[in-house]
Amino acid sequence: MTDINQLTLEEKASLTSGGSFWATTAIERADVPAITVVDGPHGVRKPRGQGDHLGLTGSVPATCFPPAVALGSSWDAELAERVGRALGMEAALHDVAVLLGPGINIKRSPLCGRNFEYFSEDPIVSGVMGTAIVRGLQSQGVGASLKHFAANNQETDRLRVSSDVDPRPLREIYLRAFERVVKDAQPWTVMAAYNAINGTFCSQNHWLLTEVLRGEWGFKGLVVSDWGAVNDRVAGVAAGMDLEMPASGGRTNAQIVQAVRDGSLHEAALDAVAQRVLDLVRKAGERPRQTGPLDADAHHALAREAAGRSMVLLKNDGGLLPLAKDARIAVIGEFARTPRYQGGGSSQVNPTRVDCALDAIRAASDREVVFAPGFAFEGSSDEAGLREEAVAAAAAAEVAVVFLGVPLSEESEGFDRTSLDLPPVQNKLLDAVLAANPRTVVVLSNGGVVTLPFAEDAPAILEGWLLGQAGGPATADVLFGAVNPSGRLAETIPLRLEDAPSHGNFPGELRHVRYGEGVLVGYRGYDAANREVAYPFGHGLSYTAFAYGEPTATVQDDGDTLVTVPVTNTGDVAGREVVQVYTSLDSSVVQRAPRELKGFALLDLAPGETAAAEIVLRRSELAYWDVRVDGWVLESGEYLVEAGASSRDIRSSTTVRIEGHPVELPISMDSGVDEVLAHPVAGPLLLDALVEHGLAVDPQALRVLGMFPIGRVDGFPLPYEKALNIIEKVTS
Ligand code: BGC
Repeated sequence: MTDINQLTLEEKASLTSGGSFWATTAIERADVPAITVVDGPHGVRKPRGQGDHLGLTGSVPATCFPPAVALGSSWDAELAERVGRALGMEAALHDVAVLLGPGINIKRSPLCGRNFEYFSEDPIVSGVMGTAIVRGLQSQGVGASLKHFAANNQETDRLRVSSDVDPRPLREIYLRAFERVVKDAQPWTVMAAYNAINGTFCSQNHWLLTEVLRGEWGFKGLVVSDWGAVNDRVAGVAAGMDLEMPASGGRTNAQIVQAVRDGSLHEAALDAVAQRVLDLVRKAGERPRQTGPLDADAHHALAREAAGRSMVLLKNDGGLLPLAKDARIAVIGEFARTPRYQGGGSSQVNPTRVDCALDAIRAASDREVVFAPGFAFEGSSDEAGLREEAVAAAAAAEVAVVFLGVPLSEESEGFDRTSLDLPPVQNKLLDAVLAANPRTVVVLSNGGVVTLPFAEDAPAILEGWLLGQAGGPATADVLFGAVNPSGRLAETIPLRLEDAPSHGNFPGELRHVRYGEGVLVGYRGYDAANREVAYPFGHGLSYTAFAYGEPTATVQDDGDTLVTVPVTNTGDVAGREVVQVYTSLDSSVVQRAPRELKGFALLDLAPGETAAAEIVLRRSELAYWDVRVDGWVLESGEYLVEAGASSRDIRSSTTVRIEGHPVELPISMDSGVDEVLAHPVAGPLLLDALVEHGLAVDPQALRVLGMFPIGRVDGFPLPYEKALNIIEKVTS
């Protein structure tokens, strides 16, 4: 391919924006082909023909894998990598160079309309799952686009809103997953988000795209704008935003040319972004041709496996599940017949097929299965009639399985939800069914969490999220026990919307949203406030049970900590436990959540079997972001290491001594008296001086004086000159 120096200024500028909605610009003269990029993230959404943004004209059939809300609940990186490989294979078949995903934004509020496209409220879960998808995709020679970079945690006013977030939460929560995926998997591309961060649009944010992403993290790929995210293209080039999508019709290219000509943009900056486009095009051209054919059945089977691993069994009183094949079952709820299996918006895949739960339950059961829709998605003139029919079916059955969920009209990319409640007609239906038959299982279909007013009364609840095209059979697999559920909540289910840590600061107003909860996002916030929740982060039941032994935690040569936790399957069926490790540090100088997830491991155990989960806690993950030095600081201390089956089900714990690296704050006249006292040389000098000047050096006095900057203690009782003298002794 051509050398950048052989291109004219206009040609270089033309490379930096799309040639069409889904392709880069070709330069035939210079032998630069166009490459195709399409959504993503959980299936290939390649528009037929020219296509349109929302895919309303339809896209080619592709396997619809479980969206991130589901896959994230599997906590299974190996599975996610296999899904990524399958996605990559399908993308390659359609000559797609980059698949626009995965989305790894943090679920800051349960109301975010796009939470179904994101993995978790926790950066480790998001980072681990995102890394796996990227690795899988790219193993097929198809690039990933890690999105939406960054702090894009709501849909309300998403193209204009400024996410006003302090440095600590930005680094520790919102950038952390991106950092991990970039460092561990080097995605070919990163997508700059629509929103601004602290007033600067991501698509023209030099600090974000160049200093942090490339400078600190070593990102080698290309930054593409989200579709329509460009605000000031020339500023974007200077910031390192390489490719504007979709096509700007030459408008912004002309601005770039003009800016180079009038000297307001260095040509070197344009060369750098154009070169990265050339690099991406070259990389895409090196992919071995994927000729297929697509084994649609094999991918459907993988989608089924992934969906089965993604369901979370929230409650199972009296072992109501799994169902016996010869049980008399009434299936109730329109979702069983007309599944909601993906979210609305740009990620909508045209599935190769869709299997509903009702058919799958009928196929798996030895008896006739009665069905009653119970309600209609868009309302019915005969609500009472539908309810009565369902109640009659439930009363005549041994067990009722009721499918409830959030209708598509309430949940989509492009807007946020306004309530966490299921439609009242559905809660009313469930109450009536429970009254007729207490042996009732609830199965949920929802992209974001919902309130569960029936959590006390319903004996069994299966959280089914949006499960992709094979969600129906996967649900039957779990209901009948062919699959022992092992999904875990990657986000807290609150009792009420008002309990959410972001409540009151979501979705902001007048183009600003203040991330007022700081680092206390998701379970970190519920735990810090000691607030009851419906089901905590990390929760999920199995058809078997697990006992935890005492963990050990050892710092290894590379500085990471290896935690081992012996776990025994104490039940009588094989099952999988997701062993979670949380840490905390009481003596921390900064506010920390009561516990933070730092690693997890899956254990597949036969009945009676014991094995040790091995979890590596990265040294870097224990650090906090220190605003005084604008850098990561790892505190020394005894860290509490807790092993648990959820963030609120800690089974055993230990401690580990971590030798960190102290913050080296230069001593100055701005240092606090207590900071100077802690200094090895200045400390004793200051103590002597204080005594000499008559200060009764008792703890009470030092407590008050300790927070005074030493430059301001003049007469309290130390003379200014004396203080200056001490500071100069250690600084000169
Ligand atoms: C979405 C992206 C998507 C792009 C292309 C945007 O509206 O935010 O996630 O990849 O459109 O469809």
